[in-house]
Amino acid sequence: MVNEHLEKIKNKGAWVDCEKDFQVFNGYENIFLGSHIYLVDSILNAGDTKGSITIEDYVFFGHGVKILARGHDITKFNQERQETITEKPIHIKSGAWIASSSIVLGGVTIGKDSVVAAGSVVTKDVPDFAVVGGNPARIIKYINKEFNFFQKLLFKLGIKK
Ligand SMILES: CC(C)(COP(=O)(O)OP(=O)(O)OC[C@H]1O[C@@H](n2cnc3c(N)ncnc32)[C@H](O)[C@@H]1OP(=O)(O)O)[C@@H](O)C(=O)NCCC(=O)NCCS
Repeated sequence: MVNEHLEKIKNKGAWVDCEKDFQVFNGYENIFLGSHIYLVDSILNAGDTKGSITIEDYVFFGHGVKILARGHDITKFNQERQETITEKPIHIKSGAWIASSSIVLGGVTIGKDSVVAAGSVVTKDVPDFAVVGGNPARIIKYINKEFNFFQKLLFKLGIKK
């Protein structure tokens, strides 16, 4: 798909595709894309300095994903809040699937081959091979590990992350 926003991202590998509504809100120069990536109709909001967005090979998104490396300073008010931009980097490691309507916030690293379930708000790092879901996103399970009953219970109680 030819998309003017994707065209303007210069740091990208082979076969990076998207749909017509894909948008970069800010920070084309601070977006780094590997190869074999499908961005669908997502919005990437990268910063001008610290708020880079790095997406490694074989990452793909569902519909309506938002990757938000920029925000506003909540200790400021009114016009100052509107004008004060905060930036933190986002790194999505190879093979991760960010399912539909998920939001990834600044400062987060999403692990290799992990899954972010539909509708998640990711506020903290996601380990490699983890499936996370909800708002805020919590670990649901690991793809490459089998847990016994006791370990599953600890997860349910939120004791083991
Ligand atoms: C995560 C997903 C892939 C399912 O994985 P799964 O291994 O089949 O998971 P299950 O259905 O067995 O659910 C496991 C647990 O996760 C929970 N869960 C599943 N999807 C969830 C979601 N989106 N948000 C929060 N929790 C979720 C289930 O309720 C279940 O909880 P429980 O153990 O307390 O009963 C799927 O739920 C999902 O989000 N798919 C995305 C679909 C999509 O975006 N498609 C667009 C095209 S890319």
